[in-house]
Amino acid sequence: MKKKFKVTIRNKVTGKVYQEDVSSDEYILKEFEKKGLRLPFSCRNGCCTECAVKIISGKLEQRHAMGVSQALKDEGYALLCVGKALEDVEVETTYYDEVYELQFGQFFGQGSTRVAPPWEFEED
Ligand code: FES
Repeated sequence: MKKKFKVTIRNKVTGKVYQEDVSSDEYILKEFEKKGLRLPFSCRNGCCTECAVKIISGKLEQRHAMGVSQALKDEGYALLCVGKALEDVEVETTYYDEVYELQFGQFFGQGSTRVAPPWEFEED
């Protein structure tokens, strides 16, 4: 059943606070956009982490958030592009690439991608 919940977003850098009543069956990013607030995003599919926030209070449903591991979700990280409010929620924005580094940083600079493959280009 569709409900309305209050979602509060605190901008960690500017200190500004944004608050809207959002529908429980819509993604929070989309709900804020409908009300005229443009939040950061890129993929809109729960992968890139551009829309990542940290939950201060409340619960979100984010089963399609592939860009954050269960361990990061347990720490409170969430993705607003695929996040729906399950109750009143307060979140804080994250620094640029904060969650991307936490999620994928362990893989950077490892493995065979460190050395450029022996490319051969055909010449005319
Ligand atoms: S916009 Fe890419 S994960 Fe949300």
